Amino acid sequence: MLNEGIDRKEIMDILEKKLSKDFSYDSGSILGSMCTTAFDFGKEVYYKYINKNLGDPGLFPGTTELEKELISEIGELYNGKNITGSFTTGGSESNLIAVRIAKKLRPDIKKPEIILPISAHISFDKAADLMDVKLRKAKLKDNFELDLDHFKSLINENTCGVIGIAGTTSLGLIDPIERIGDLVRDKDIFFHVDAAFGGFILPFLKHLGYNHPKWDFSVKEVDSITADPHKMGMGIIPSGGIFIRDENILQKTGFEIPYLAGGNFKHLHIVGTRTGGSVIAFWAILKYLGKKGFIQIVKKCMENTDYLVKKIDEVEGIKIAVKPMMNVVGITHENGENICRINHKLKELNWMLGKFDEFNLIRAVLMPHVKKEHISKFIKDLKIVLE
Ligand SMILES: Cc1ncc(COP(=O)(O)O)c(C=O)c1O
Repeated sequence: MLNEGIDRKEIMDILEKKLSKDFSYDSGSILGSMCTTAFDFGKEVYYKYINKNLGDPGLFPGTTELEKELISEIGELYNGKNITGSFTTGGSESNLIAVRIAKKLRPDIKKPEIILPISAHISFDKAADLMDVKLRKAKLKDNFELDLDHFKSLINENTCGVIGIAGTTSLGLIDPIERIGDLVRDKDIFFHVDAAFGGFILPFLKHLGYNHPKWDFSVKEVDSITADPHKMGMGIIPSGGIFIRDENILQKTGFEIPYLAGGNFKHLHIVGTRTGGSVIAFWAILKYLGKKGFIQIVKKCMENTDYLVKKIDEVEGIKIAVKPMMNVVGITHENGENICRINHKLKELNWMLGKFDEFNLIRAVLMPHVKKEHISKFIKDLKIVLE
């Protein structure tokens, strides 16, 4: 560390130089991220309230109230009533919390197991590893849909939880949430839906005429939902959320924190100190955009999705893996050859896509920062790479 500090201008110059290696959303080359530029007004609000710490809610009762209000409002968007929950650092933390709740609610099970589709996010593997829970992964069918019969066959007396996904990481698909609900009805099994990605697109897609299956609290067996503002919500990184139906979960499974200046309280989080600024910023983004604003943003993303699908159809030798349900497009070879091999060549041309070896696909996410001209440029380069 330096003995004496250096002036701001010099520091900013150094930072500018060092960070010039980073990819930028504006360039359009980030085609495979589920994050995007935060909404401008949200940034302004965030800077103003950057010091708020929701890890000590007694010190920040105003921020805590705002968080509760926001949770309840989003709960209503997800067709729930009096929904509780909390904002987190992202989908991974929310999923960890859900797995922990599922385990805690069944102390009678000595070797707890969770059933989930093979397409579930890696955060569940982390949770299982950390909490000594066994994951039982259900297969997908050839069309990438969940094999529900296989899922059902994995449920046994050690099952403490089941997971369904509304917006898979690889293809943006929605699992049959109602039918998973049927499997756990009247059973003491916690049902968590991971809508980390889908949570801030699905409620708006239905206003654009998309008729997707039910995935939220309207399915009465669903106990909790992960949904991330820092993905399609255009919130500040980090912002995740877990939304919980039963208001007693916090009392039943929360950690007691006795020492805080603001007073004794319980929480469900993996982290302690946590951002109030991002939560306040998301409150402001939702108020500012309203449903109407989000629908407009989502509409653009879906137009770009359709455009990419159309362009892929025109390229010889490749195809889309499955018809997109949201703004996620999987690309694969027509003849089953390994498509992932071309990913490094695309990277050399600055195209950053997701790569899923297990499903033999590369994946584009048509986030709000992706523009039509980026897609046209990508298709040109894709053709060159394929040749
Ligand atoms: C479905 C799903 N769940 C969870 C996560 C993890 O989210 P985060 O990276 O915010 O922890 C992701 C990340 O892409 C995801 O796609």
